[in-house]
Amino acid sequence: MAFFSWDTKYSVNVPDLDKEHKILLEMLNELHDAMKQGKGKENIERLVNNSASYAKSHLSHEERLMEQCGYPGFQEHKKQHEFFVQKVNEFKNDVNQNNYKLSSELLKFLKDWFVNHITMVDSKYSTSINNCKVK
Ligand code: FEO
Repeated sequence: MAFFSWDTKYSVNVPDLDKEHKILLEMLNELHDAMKQGKGKENIERLVNNSASYAKSHLSHEERLMEQCGYPGFQEHKKQHEFFVQKVNEFKNDVNQNNYKLSSELLKFLKDWFVNHITMVDSKYSTSINNCKVK
């Protein structure tokens, strides 16, 4: 079974953001497979850095839209992003220190957290963003 498979229930009804979520979750999939197959440290580090950087860029994009569109839940949402970034940094540290068992558990945590975040937190901004002219 795939580590992650996209499903329409994950859609936030904002096409650009759905696209970014799909890419990010596919990157986590790829990373999971690379770790499972014991691919080299350099390869895994490269995938971790790419995923972390894409995640940060996605979160910034979302925050910019929420703020520009006057989404009332923006500050609370941003705090959740900060927590995620902190976990991503822990993940990078684990990989840098060759703690592959720990990092594999953290990767699963990140994927589950992110899927829950998309369905329960991201989904709430859809109306504000779709009603907003800035995009
Ligand atoms: Fe798509 Fe709030 O992260």
